[in-house]
Amino acid sequence: MSSELPGVGPYIRPRRLRSTPAMRRLVSETRLHPAELILPMFVREGITTPEPIGSMPGVSHQSLDSLRRAVNEAAAAGIGGVMLFGIPTQKDAMGSGATDPDGILNVATRIAVEEVGDALVVQTDLCLDEFTDHGHCGVLDAEGRVDNDASLARYREMALAQAASGSQLLGLSGMMDGQVAAVREILDANGYTDTAILGYAAKYASAFYGPFREAVQSSLKGDRRSYQLDPGNRREGAREIMLDVEEGADIVMVKPAMSYLDVLADAAASSPVPVWAYQVSGEYSMVEAAAANGWIDRRRTIEETVIGIKRAGADAVLTYWAVELAGWLRSSLEGEQR
Ligand code: PBG
Repeated sequence: MSSELPGVGPYIRPRRLRSTPAMRRLVSETRLHPAELILPMFVREGITTPEPIGSMPGVSHQSLDSLRRAVNEAAAAGIGGVMLFGIPTQKDAMGSGATDPDGILNVATRIAVEEVGDALVVQTDLCLDEFTDHGHCGVLDAEGRVDNDASLARYREMALAQAASGSQLLGLSGMMDGQVAAVREILDANGYTDTAILGYAAKYASAFYGPFREAVQSSLKGDRRSYQLDPGNRREGAREIMLDVEEGADIVMVKPAMSYLDVLADAAASSPVPVWAYQVSGEYSMVEAAAANGWIDRRRTIEETVIGIKRAGADAVLTYWAVELAGWLRSSLEGEQR
């Protein structure tokens, strides 16, 4: 059937709904809200003032002092939560700093909870890579391979340390098999039945983590391909989502975001629990670099990337722009109300 009446032109005109700002606003399918943004933060042991991260312009390592200010700023911006990463001064084969109650991440968690624990969901990265001298997400066996089950034992200990520090949501990013079930079991056995688990279910072995590795001063040699997913694998991503849900994850995540929107859409269609996406360091730095060169409009690009991730199915997004974006969302809302 033709959409043209003879001599009249098309009578089906989708452009009608794009004709005015008010009409576009009314028919907009995807809206962002500050509450669905989560800010990842790096807290570094041994510094007293924030230190800019060269590979991530606009992002800094926080000291324990500056963390207090930064989490209050995040709460004032109305975002949903913060995800804390710790950078210790000492690393070893077992990642001892991760389970030390006085280790940087656990201390930072107590501070964040004390400052903003009611306003924000304080979340912690549960993975060994920042704490190990070899830089892997787990511990190694005698042959130097990442030992799945020995790593689970360390994750259990890390979960207890983080829960004891007050973390409300543990971000299991290590990609070891069985990590969600292992952590759920030990939390419950120790009375932490209300501590929630975010399973980084479909985490891909990605070049987009490049700037993060500088940010956490990673000592990794080699790669993570024996535990993170192959970028070409969509079905396997869906399987990992399913497994984390079965093991008891309260929320599942797809990571990175922009190059994996199909995986995210699959997860959003099948998951009975919330699905989040992590807009990772390389996604951030790529936009910042292009914007700094004047090649793209920074604000519009940032908004478009996060809108795209939400449109694909993310219920919430971890993004280094969380606070700035929340500010824009608030000011455009105020502008609309004037
Ligand atoms: C592992 C972890 C990584 C990121 C978050 N958690 C890095 C990795 O797997 O190498 C990457 C985050 C980013 O690139 O922004 N603890």
